Amino acid sequence: MKAAYAHTNIALVKYWGKRALELNLPATGSLSLTLDRFGTHTAVERIAADADELVLDGAVASAARTARVSAFVDRVRRATGDTARVRVTSRNDVPTAAGLASSASAFAALAMASAAEFGLEMDAGQLSGLARQGSGSASRSLFGGFAQWDRGEADDGADSIARAVRVKVGFDVRLIVVRCGEGEKPIGSTEGMVHTAKTSPYYPAWVDTHAADLDEARAALAAGDLEKLGDVMEFSTLKMHACALTARPGFWYLKPPTVAVLDTVKALRAAGAPVWFTMDAGPHVKVLTTPEQADAMAAKLAAVPGVRGVDVAAPGPAAHLVDAAPTFDGEVNA
Ligand code: PMV
Repeated sequence: MKAAYAHTNIALVKYWGKRALELNLPATGSLSLTLDRFGTHTAVERIAADADELVLDGAVASAARTARVSAFVDRVRRATGDTARVRVTSRNDVPTAAGLASSASAFAALAMASAAEFGLEMDAGQLSGLARQGSGSASRSLFGGFAQWDRGEADDGADSIARAVRVKVGFDVRLIVVRCGEGEKPIGSTEGMVHTAKTSPYYPAWVDTHAADLDEARAALAAGDLEKLGDVMEFSTLKMHACALTARPGFWYLKPPTVAVLDTVKALRAAGAPVWFTMDAGPHVKVLTTPEQADAMAAKLAAVPGVRGVDVAAPGPAAHLVDAAPTFDGEVNA
């Protein structure tokens, strides 16, 4: 048995669109922050059985989820020639109410634990390429703090992997997760990306302007310039959502409280507060700010009508192996 823990990450410069579906290769690079909260603890054990088993959050998982995990572990089996079936035991410390996708931390932890269990020697970059094939954003959770997942050029995806990004010594941030709704999103990320790429006249502009955003974000991190980072983050976010709005038919993830939070962030900033927003394929808003202002800003955002709750997260660690398998009695093993 081998086990790993991975934290979730939030993209500051977004991934939206694929250059190859089968290998999950992105049309653009992306840059993210791994959080110190919300993660997945996963154990993988080779077993003498005819089929893979998946226990998720203490219960036997659905056939569909088990099949997705099996297909992922197949990549490790093919790479090693070891055809053993596995029992995967996984616990998401990403409460449904937090409104954060768990696929990033889930596939990062699964990649690390399954590679270790099958004795597949891989560095963090190679593991990120493996995790990417489960869920694109998972590639970035192999790294702590700020990470960039490169688009890559190779057809086999060998160079579409993540890496750590250089950050000015002492630069620190907080990300406030502002919950703005519940329930299923109208359209999943893969479906949304494919539909956008096919039908939005803005999509080529999104792809063409993306490299400059990545350069700006990296320069801002190297200089420790939060304002520049926040500015390019908002630009990338709104371009991504504009692509979805201008697809045919158009779609959006925003709910009324989402818009109220965006208004509040703009008003707070106009009054001098260091706050910038980002949004993913869901109604929630994540607000970038300083460690000093985080609690005060979180209190203001929690008071916006329709907001269900807020969580303040700091930069978190890279995915790592852990000794024990997850338990399901509510304690957090991170
Ligand atoms: O990795 P996926 O398929 O869950 O897609 C993630 C898409 C966004 O969250 C909207 C952007 C990103 O870069 O994480």
